[in-house]
Amino acid sequence: DTNLSWGGRFSEPTDEFVARFTASVDFDQRMAMQDIQGSMAHAAMLSSVGVLSEDELQSIKTGLTEIVTDIENGTFQWSLALEDVHMNIEAALTSQIGVTGKKLHTGRSRNDQVATDIRLWLREEIDVIARELTRLQQGILQLAEKEADTIMPGFTHLQTAQPVTFGHHLMAWFEMLERDYSRLQDCRKRLNQSPLGAAALAGTTYPINRHMTAELLGFDGPTRNSLDSVSDRDFGIEFCAFASLLLIHLSRASEELVLWTSAQFNFIELPDRFCTGSSIMPQKKNPDVPELVRGKTGRVNGHLVALLMLMKSQPLAYNKDNQEDKEPLFDTADTVRDCLRAFADMVPAIEAKKDNMREAARRGFSTATDLADYLVRKGIAFRDSHEIVGKSVAYGIANNRDLSDMSLQELQQFSDVIGQDVFDVLTLEGSVAARNHIGGTAPEQVRQAIADAKERLAQR
Ligand code: ARG
Repeated sequence: DTNLSWGGRFSEPTDEFVARFTASVDFDQRMAMQDIQGSMAHAAMLSSVGVLSEDELQSIKTGLTEIVTDIENGTFQWSLALEDVHMNIEAALTSQIGVTGKKLHTGRSRNDQVATDIRLWLREEIDVIARELTRLQQGILQLAEKEADTIMPGFTHLQTAQPVTFGHHLMAWFEMLERDYSRLQDCRKRLNQSPLGAAALAGTTYPINRHMTAELLGFDGPTRNSLDSVSDRDFGIEFCAFASLLLIHLSRASEELVLWTSAQFNFIELPDRFCTGSSIMPQKKNPDVPELVRGKTGRVNGHLVALLMLMKSQPLAYNKDNQEDKEPLFDTADTVRDCLRAFADMVPAIEAKKDNMREAARRGFSTATDLADYLVRKGIAFRDSHEIVGKSVAYGIANNRDLSDMSLQELQQFSDVIGQDVFDVLTLEGSVAARNHIGGTAPEQVRQAIADAKERLAQR
């Protein structure tokens, strides 16, 4: 027998391997609910324009509703021979309600059907991911609030640079995620248009109402060009681009968590429930969760490249290549959800080892810039003061003393403008408090940044 759905013009059955090779039902059955949702809207529209009778619409609705139940109960029989989710559901409908089931596909093609399904599916994922991202941001704010005054070394080149507060560092993570959130919303906006009615590629001869299906499915309106509607997957690429950047941001935070939990930094403690041990080394407590998030960044970025290459050079309109869009998209959404969940649960539970952070900031000559700025205020040109402080740091290294450990006389060897008031700027608290402007690390500013951030989250 030739294929039931399209075998009319064929003279022999599909090769068994080819059937398997071209089938997508193993993975696209994930969009079953969206497929049915789309079919319901399409059928309602067909009946409203007189292509289906009211009775036919009712029996299609009843049949599809039963299919929903079967799928939810796990009793639905998926068939590889029926190729994909769309034809599986249509065949089940026809076997339930008879010839009326065969009328559902009037004025529609799997091409506009699948383009609709993916958008509906991805839109739901986006909304879940947006909520999870917000939960992570709230967790960051919670920790930042607690650590607004906690002093740690700030780094450039991973070398101690200037003291910052841990709260300020956390708010840097927050801002990265804030941009990721807005990228996600941009993606949703462009995705939220209805391809239904584009049919195979050119539109359809039936008197369809595209505004009606768009509205029934919660789209902002119908897409504008039928050829484009069935062929482009740029919305999926945008989603993967969002995901790639998000994971890159999470990988940076992960890397910091991994470093900070090491004995060499010893800045934070991750609760045991987020860590695992070693089967050979009894002392080990490994930061597996951030390590895995860091690792998963590779696969998510790989999916972005896969989708970009999938679209490259595809002539209009639909090509079977596009069936390859689903697995990368599904896995991206799953991975993003898991990583966000891990981070949202873990971040508020991070325990700062304040003394160690402070000690690290004190040890690394982190207030050298403050001393240079002090000399400038006493009338010395910045380049000269840079040189003076450089020499005092060299002296400190040779004598194993930090700047704030030196006596006034010792400091005065390098410049006679140095007075007792120098110790105000050499302290870590003085250093961070002095950076008191928008975006600066002063605890006062960090608290303001947290308050602003809370307001933004409240408006979501
Ligand atoms: N399974 C196909 C996909 O995922 C559905 C569309 C197939 N259309 C076609 N004319 N073969 O892209």
